[in-house]
Amino acid sequence: MHLSVIGCGYVGLVTGACLAEAGHEVMCTDIDGGRIAQLKSGDVPIYEEHLDEVLKSAGKAGRISYTADAGEAIRFGDAIFICVGTPPREDGSADLSAIDHVAQQIATEARTSKLVVEKSTVPARTGEELKRALEAYSRGGNVKFSVVSNPEFLREGTAVYDFFHPDRIVVGVSNEDAAEKMREIYRPILERKFHCPLHKNGCPAEPKGEFLVTTINSAELIKHASNSFLALKISYANVIADLCERLNGDVEQVTHAMGLDPRIGSQFLKAGLGFGGFCFPKDIQAFIRLASSVGLDFDILRAAERVNKERIERFLEKVNKALWVVKGKRIAVLGLAFKANTDDIRFAPAIDVIRRLLDEGAQVHASDPEAMERAKRILPGVTLHEDPYDAIRDAHAVLICTEWSAFKNLDWERAGQSMARKLVVDGRNLYSPKKMADLGFEYYSFGRG
Ligand code: UDX
Repeated sequence: MHLSVIGCGYVGLVTGACLAEAGHEVMCTDIDGGRIAQLKSGDVPIYEEHLDEVLKSAGKAGRISYTADAGEAIRFGDAIFICVGTPPREDGSADLSAIDHVAQQIATEARTSKLVVEKSTVPARTGEELKRALEAYSRGGNVKFSVVSNPEFLREGTAVYDFFHPDRIVVGVSNEDAAEKMREIYRPILERKFHCPLHKNGCPAEPKGEFLVTTINSAELIKHASNSFLALKISYANVIADLCERLNGDVEQVTHAMGLDPRIGSQFLKAGLGFGGFCFPKDIQAFIRLASSVGLDFDILRAAERVNKERIERFLEKVNKALWVVKGKRIAVLGLAFKANTDDIRFAPAIDVIRRLLDEGAQVHASDPEAMERAKRILPGVTLHEDPYDAIRDAHAVLICTEWSAFKNLDWERAGQSMARKLVVDGRNLYSPKKMADLGFEYYSFGRG
């Protein structure tokens, strides 16, 4: 099928690349002409594992193209995937102006009937507004638009894998024809007829993606409800960690046992510095605002948000208590990205922690395997080191902010020898308290006595 993708950010590029790799003809466009020029020249503007190779392979097969002319892209596709940003506004609600702008473009540029697919995360009832906008902007023309909500559930760092191995594909539609077309688009993935970039000699993963047809409002709700639930789960684990600290329990033991109950599940129960990134903090806020716009106080989500914000305070309390005086101390921060395996520092707890330490007069030295280029631009007062051991040298304390495996595997015997004081405050519970004590460290983490 011919597909158009509007918006070549993280979601749009992964969607476009994977659908092209799955056998469709894809044309991508973006309001940023520089980005299109970059893509045309073979450069990938974001780092995402396997994206580069999938784009190259689809490009070589002639199934993906790029244009700065939105009209050309709109006329190309039978289905148009809207993948533009929906950032938070001052009050936490989603800014839908980019969606509105695209609706105008589609309505004025389309010459034939189109399936208009919302991929961007949007609050429930956006589909209804989008349909109304498309009809209003096309001023009673003959072209028909069918709106579909098809939320993405991609994790940064494993987005390409997630696209090809989905747990569920949700399509919110208003008619059977739209559902059939969406099934056609996803058929190669549902039937596993794609080239898995992770397993060149055949992908061993069992097909498990369920294709779910729902109403448009339900599909929009599924996305916000899923992300908010995961955020809630993390905050729950973090409150259990606080309780463990007061009652001398071990949160790792507690959450491990909890997670063995299949009704609870082991994922997203990791206590520590809490959640960051561009999705959870913004989605949870947008969901709270959406609920309050229809007279519902989503107080459990407000509590989850508050617990998450408190993580930074709890962490800094530990640092302050251990160090006594922060001013003038050399502090090594390991990890800048909001989670491991990404260079994304948006809403990363490490950034808040560092800003607070700088305000208190600490000398901050930091290291991260991928995120330093981005961090450099927003943290001018920090000395960055490629090698974590250089960041650690002469430090009065090492703070762990991201769960990179490179940090999990650090040689603490070696690191400890170069430190001014053998103190580690671990925001991700990466190490065994006993092992760290045996190595002579003062070691603080979350929820472990
Ligand atoms: C998330 C959703 O997982 C994805 O389905 C959605 O489409 C986009 O948002 P992502 O933002 O890439 O994906 O991150 P994810 O891997 O889900 O982690 C979110 C945050 O929670 C990270 O900051 C992570 O460090 C934190 N986290 C995760 C915890 O603090 N504890 C956990 O147990 C799990």
